[in-house]
Amino acid sequence: MLMFRAHLTLAGFNFGAGISTTNAPKEKVECVVIGAGVVGLAVARELSIRGKEVLVVDSAPTFGTGTSSRNSEVIHAGIYYPPNSFKALFCVKGRKLLYRFCSEHGVPHKQIGKLIVATGASEIPQLNHLLNCGIENGVEGLRMLEASEAMRMEPELQCVKALLSPASGIVDTHSLMLSLVVCISIFLEPVITGNIIQGEAESNRTTFSYNTTIIGGELEGHQMFLYASESKDLGNWDGRTSLHPDLILIPKVVVNSTGLSAPALAKRVQGLHHGAIPPSYYARGCYFTLSNTRVPPFKRLIYPIPEEGGLGVHVTLDLDGQVKFGPDVEWITGVDDISSFLNKFDYTVKTDRAERFYPEIRKYFPNLKDGSLEPGYAGIRPKLSGPGQAPFDFVIQGEDTHGVPGLVNLFGIESPGLTSSMAIAEYVASRF
Ligand SMILES: Cc1cc2nc3c(=O)[nH]c(=O)nc-3n(C[C@H](O)[C@H](O)[C@H](O)COP(=O)(O)OP(=O)(O)OC[C@H]3O[C@@H](n4cnc5c(N)ncnc54)[C@H](O)[C@@H]3O)c2cc1C
Ligand SMILES: *[C@@H]1O[C@H](CO)[C@@H](O)[C@H](O)[C@H]1NC(C)=O
Ligand SMILES: *[C@@H]1O[C@H](CO)[C@@H](O)[C@H](O)[C@H]1NC(C)=O
Repeated sequence: MLMFRAHLTLAGFNFGAGISTTNAPKEKVECVVIGAGVVGLAVARELSIRGKEVLVVDSAPTFGTGTSSRNSEVIHAGIYYPPNSFKALFCVKGRKLLYRFCSEHGVPHKQIGKLIVATGASEIPQLNHLLNCGIENGVEGLRMLEASEAMRMEPELQCVKALLSPASGIVDTHSLMLSLVVCISIFLEPVITGNIIQGEAESNRTTFSYNTTIIGGELEGHQMFLYASESKDLGNWDGRTSLHPDLILIPKVVVNSTGLSAPALAKRVQGLHHGAIPPSYYARGCYFTLSNTRVPPFKRLIYPIPEEGGLGVHVTLDLDGQVKFGPDVEWITGVDDISSFLNKFDYTVKTDRAERFYPEIRKYFPNLKDGSLEPGYAGIRPKLSGPGQAPFDFVIQGEDTHGVPGLVNLFGIESPGLTSSMAIAEYVASRF
């Protein structure tokens, strides 16, 4: 917890959302990770493994309240992404790291496999393309199945051809994040003499500061300053008066892992070259759950051919056997900075969206009964490409992009960001 020695004062004469920093106390800290989602937590773990002192800041009252708890919880194999892209490399590597971490730390997960299905002859070329792409990305065990074989494996399935991906699976994301938090709160490092592990020694603990929002920052030469405020005070802000931070952090390393609000925050850092900050787009994805099912209709994940902006309304199972369908793609606009810092997005699932789900799902699950879909939850994709544009890769900006040593901005960490989290973390932490 940060000690807030001053309080956010919202009085001021200047209009416009400027930040005034007079008299705020300052605190030096080696590394600051902004955002305690699955990516920020994985980065904090990697930094602490490397002996760094880390402060993790999140605007919410606890970890993992953003996109990390509003997704399909699928461990992706790495099929869809252009060869050699960050998404392809981090997904394949991150998957292996994630399975290993889950096994070693007792995080509930299951490698249940997945079928990507073509429901008409016109979709078969896309399925072939996915197979080739997956092979090029190094995904193990991919196999094209004739309809009969796929439908024997999954009797409720209707398709003309299917791509089997045995490496795909599911994970309990909350348990995963809790386990990461526990690991970095009481991190034990192996003590090695020669090649022999002698025991474990406690290293620097990572500190968490929840309810703390980074409202902006400043660069003076190569020194970074981050402005931190108590979230509850920001929540009451009138949007016009000048903002005063409660505390100014003086870090050597800053990893900006704020997900949906990363571009908004980066724009609020004075002195950062704004030309490098990519434009941001937001796409909501809603899930519906299958009601009144004692036995799930499928054993594996079932995905249609991907659509623009997402992977298509697919079937996911969680570890309790609940069946979810989603997410769809709904582009949203008019997101403002402060409400994005405080995660005040609209996550309601409107019941009428179910009307679009039934026909989509029945293409591969014809026995879906009328009235069986119930609103589940929604998540928002932090996208760098808008409607009609080709998907963007993850963007990881370090000193080479913006010239500031120690600053790493993570932008557009949409799917497969959960699967990739540990590989992204390794990549980021190994720079310091
Ligand atoms: C609908 C949907 C389905 C998905 N399905 C999958 C899937 O099946 N498999 C997969 O691998 N990936 C999936 N993803 C992607 C995955 O969920 C994300 O890539 C991942 O959760 C991103 O984690 P993160 O830590 O970057 O962001 P977040 O989890 O969003 O964390 C960011 C954190 O930053 C905090 N924050 C924001 N602004 C500030 C600020 N100014 N100051 C302090 N704190 C701040 C927030 O409170 C939040 O906790 C899906 C995404 C969506 C939207
Ligand atoms: C802990 O942090 C301090 C200061 O940042 C550093 O000098 C020390 O080596 C670290 N200790 C470990 C065990 O990593
Ligand atoms: C964070 O804020 C919430 C709501 O304002 C409050 O209930 C909670 O106690 C706070 N947590 C911490 C760690 O300060």
